[in-house]
Amino acid sequence: MMDQAALLRQKMQGQVQITCKTIAVVSGKGGVGKSNFTTNFSLALAELKQRVLIVDMDLGMGNIHILLGKTARNSLTNYLQGECSIQEIIHHDDENLDFIAGGSGMSSLLRWSDFMFERLIFAFNELQKNYDFILFDMGAGATEWSLQFIMSVDDVVVVSTTEPTSVTDAYSMMKYIHNKDQDKNFHLICNRAFSAEEGLNTLARLKTTMSRFLVKEVSELGVILEDIHVRKAINQQVPYKRLYPNCVASRAISEIAERYLYNDGTQTVQVVETNQFLSKLKGLFSKGRS
Ligand SMILES: Nc1ncnc2c1ncn2[C@@H]1O[C@H](COP(=O)(O)OP(=O)(O)OP(=O)(O)O)[C@@H](O)[C@H]1O
Ligand SMILES: [Mg+2]
Repeated sequence: MMDQAALLRQKMQGQVQITCKTIAVVSGKGGVGKSNFTTNFSLALAELKQRVLIVDMDLGMGNIHILLGKTARNSLTNYLQGECSIQEIIHHDDENLDFIAGGSGMSSLLRWSDFMFERLIFAFNELQKNYDFILFDMGAGATEWSLQFIMSVDDVVVVSTTEPTSVTDAYSMMKYIHNKDQDKNFHLICNRAFSAEEGLNTLARLKTTMSRFLVKEVSELGVILEDIHVRKAINQQVPYKRLYPNCVASRAISEIAERYLYNDGTQTVQVVETNQFLSKLKGLFSKGRS
């Protein structure tokens, strides 16, 4: 398995002149918002004119296509098993945004073979030529194979909520990855925080722990507050960034995408707390008084 992961990394990084960046979205604890983050962050990058491919790595229990409100005739699982070509698993969502579904039917129980690894390598060698970013939504639970796969990407976005269990598991996940590859870039997201303070504290705690115990600097990418629009949008099967472009979560995602693209990670995180209309109104009000 180790050799195959090294081979995958080598091939993903070496063979073609690549400008494409690969990003794995991971968490320690499940259910913290990875799939929603991946979908909406990808949408935000696409709106910033980046060509983006989302790959649902939750093989057998994929839900990216559901969040996008699309059907997917063929999935990564079908491709890996040799049932269809790469072209047949790429589905178009919007300008600059494509996705590959993970498939359903609990195929995560499926055993990895050399044949599947070869097909995976071939697929991503080809796909990297067509995109600026490929985002892998890593799904719930760490398996030996998913942990190995994470070793092959450029950047790792770690999503955590503010709950101590989630934070501890996020740290354990980063520790595991860091022990295998000291050069991996980590970007932290705190999701579902109830206040800016709570979110920023969570990021700071993780950053300090990484620095103190592993002597590893990680970047604080952003905080997304708990937002009722997230669940409303999921129920409509439309990403919140698309259905409610001005809600708190959507504007946080836009800020995070811009920060990821244009900042070097040194600027402090600005948490989006109010809706745009209200903050503009407040701005007007304070100008009127000064
Ligand atoms: N910012 C938010 N505000 C409110 N609710 C949220 C937010 N982000 C996520 N959620 C809720 O959390 C639930 C889980 O989100 P999601 O499916 O993206 O998690 P996940 O990490 O991908 O889960 P899994 O580990 O099972 O793959 C969503 O169904 C949604 O109700
Ligand atoms: Mg998920």
